Amino acid sequence: MLKGKTVLLGVTGSIAAYKIANLASMLVKLHADVHVIMTQNATNFIHPITFETLTQNKCLVDTFDRNFQFEVEHVSLGKKADIVMIAPASANVIGKLACGIADDMLTTTVLATKAPVYVSPAMNVTMYENAIVQDNLEKLRKFGVHVIEPAEGFLACRDSGKGKMPEPEVLLNYIEREIAFEKDLAGKKILITAGPTREAIDPVRFLSNHSTGKMGYAVARAAMLRGASVTLVTGPTQIAPPPFVDVVSCMSAADMADAVLSRKESQDAFVLSAAVADYTPLHTAAEKIKKSEGEQSLALTNTVDILKTLGETKKDNQFLCGFCMETEDLLARAEEKRIRKHADLMVANNLKEEGAGFGTDTNVVTIFSKDGKRSLPKMSKEEVAHELLNEIIK
Ligand SMILES: Cc1cc2nc3c(=O)[nH]c(=O)nc-3n(C[C@H](O)[C@H](O)[C@H](O)COP(=O)(O)O)c2cc1C
Repeated sequence: MLKGKTVLLGVTGSIAAYKIANLASMLVKLHADVHVIMTQNATNFIHPITFETLTQNKCLVDTFDRNFQFEVEHVSLGKKADIVMIAPASANVIGKLACGIADDMLTTTVLATKAPVYVSPAMNVTMYENAIVQDNLEKLRKFGVHVIEPAEGFLACRDSGKGKMPEPEVLLNYIEREIAFEKDLAGKKILITAGPTREAIDPVRFLSNHSTGKMGYAVARAAMLRGASVTLVTGPTQIAPPPFVDVVSCMSAADMADAVLSRKESQDAFVLSAAVADYTPLHTAAEKIKKSEGEQSLALTNTVDILKTLGETKKDNQFLCGFCMETEDLLARAEEKRIRKHADLMVANNLKEEGAGFGTDTNVVTIFSKDGKRSLPKMSKEEVAHELLNEIIK
C-alpha cells in the first residue's frame, strides 16, 4: 500500500521510543522506504542498529557524521520524504521545533522539509499539561504541524493521565491516511451503511442475518483514505470500524433508516451495503399465529426500504449505490432493482460463488449501471471497495 512512498520517522528521548521499532517494521511490510532520524538522547532508549536492521537504511543521529555517501542528508531526506512522523516527541524537541531551533539532525531536517509533519507528544502528565509545552504545541499547530492527541492511561513514570504516545497501529493510521492514496474524494461526503440489522421479537430473541459488515467497512476505509468525509451507519458487528470515520451505531432496520434519512440532505454519495432484511412475511405469519393463540402481537414493524426512499428523493447531484443479494436470478434481479429503486449503481453480491458474500475477506461482484454491467473477478473486499469508488468518481 505504501510502495514508492518515503516515510521519515523522528525518534526522541522518551521511554516510548522502543515502540517505534514496531511502527518501522509495519511500514516496511507495507513496502514504504523508511528512514529514521534519532536524537542523541533517543539512543539511550533504543539502539540505531534496531532501525537500520528493520529499514535497511542508515539511521541518522549526528548532523556532522561524515560516514555516508555525499549528499547534504538533512536536505535530501527532507526533500525525499512524503511524510515526517516525530514519535515519540519529547517536550524538548517540541519546544525546539516551536522556536525554529535546528541544533541536531532531526530538528534541522524538519526545517528543511515541505512534507507534512506529524508530532506525537509523549511525556509525563505534568510535563504535558505544563503551560509552556501546551503553548509550544499550539504554536506548532498554527504553523501547520499536525499534533496527534496523546492517549490517557498509566504512564511509564507510574503517574496516570494524558501523555501516552498512541500505539504504533494508531500512528500508522495517520501515516496511511496522509500518503496511501491520492485524495480524489477530497471535499466529498459519503454515507455508507454496513452490517446486519436486528429485529427484536421479544426482550430476549431477535431476527437478523449473517452480514459481518466487512464489505461496508472496507468501502468506508477506502473512501476515508481517498479523502472523503465518511459517515458509517452500522448495525452490530464484531469488527473495529475504520479510523477517522464518523460512526453511527444502530440496531433495527427502523433505526438504520432514521440514521440514514436524517442525514441525507448533506451527503454527496451513498453506498448502502448493510443487509437490511425485510421480515414482513415472517411478521405477518407470526402475527396470525399469535392472534389465533390470543397473545399480544409482535413488536416488529414493516421495514423502510432505505435504498428506494433515497432513490426517489435524492437530488440530481447525489450518487446512490446499492447492494443486492439474491439466491435466484441474481443478475436479472439486480438490474431490475437498480431501475426500480432509482440507484446509479447496483452491486450484485454473488452468494453462490466461493470467496463471495458474508464473512469472507474476498468478494465476487457484478456492478450494474445505466451503461451496462461489469463483472469483477474474485478480489479482496478492499479492492472491490476501490473499484466501486472509481465507478462513483467516473
Ligand atoms: C527514563 C527517562 C524517560 C524519559 N521520558 C521522557 C518522555 O517520555 N518525554 C519527554 O519529553 N522526556 C522524557 N525524558 C527526558 C528527556 O529524555 C530529556 O528531556 C532529553 O533532554 C530529551 O532529549 P531530546 O528531545 O533531544 O530527545 C526522559 C528521561 C529519562 C531519563
